[in-house]
Amino acid sequence: MSRPTHPLGHTVHALGEVDSTQAALGRLAAAGAPEGVVVTATHQTGGRGRRGRPWWDEPGQSLLCSVLLRPTASMARVAQLSLVAGLAVAEAVEAVGQVPAGIKWPNDVLVQDRKVAGILLEAAASPGGQARHVVLGIGVNVNQAAFPEALAGATSLRLAAGRPLDPATVLARLLEQLGARYGQWRAAGLPPILAAWRPRAVTLGRIALAGDGQAGLAEDVAEDGALLVRLPDGTLERVLTPAGEA
Ligand code: BTN
Repeated sequence: MSRPTHPLGHTVHALGEVDSTQAALGRLAAAGAPEGVVVTATHQTGGRGRRGRPWWDEPGQSLLCSVLLRPTASMARVAQLSLVAGLAVAEAVEAVGQVPAGIKWPNDVLVQDRKVAGILLEAAASPGGQARHVVLGIGVNVNQAAFPEALAGATSLRLAAGRPLDPATVLARLLEQLGARYGQWRAAGLPPILAAWRPRAVTLGRIALAGDGQAGLAEDVAEDGALLVRLPDGTLERVLTPAGEA
């Protein structure tokens, strides 16, 4: 059965060095840019990761992009887009690199058990609690041959696939996959996304830490994207933030 797809990337602002594609696209969004506009850069001087961490890149070696979405949804529902994006990025990475890609909850994309891509979702709310827009930032390590010591858990598509890849090819496939999964989410909500997400989830079935630091078994992901962890006393705890992140 074909899925409703949603066109993204009809307008791509391809920048050189920029502070952050998130900031650049945020400015365009505030000025009224339509859904689907994309900003890319060859290097970021202030790349942003989740939880206020920096996102490192080696100039010209990464795919650094931000995609503008304007879903008609509450801020709570918009959090689901984190899973939608993780799935789409994993699918794109796997298709282009021809290497199996998994997802570490909530949305780190892994190949060979190392992080190859990260996703940052920044949403602006309107006064009624609806989302005004979402700036979806995606960083894919494409051609790095090595990483700084502090990023020992990272890899690139080139290292995993054993050949260099073109960041533009990764972007094209990513926008195609994201358009398909975003369209599916708009039409049918989270269930079909989760059905495809679960088999890629490296977190499920493993030990995970609950909010109070107790270890339990990661059983599933809830409709709002929370990780469901079974504690030794049998209770099921909802975890909203990965352990070790503030
Ligand atoms: C993470 O912490 O895993 C999320 C990293 C997201 C990085 C991307 S790179 C393109 C976009 N611009 C940014 O400043 N951050 C995101």
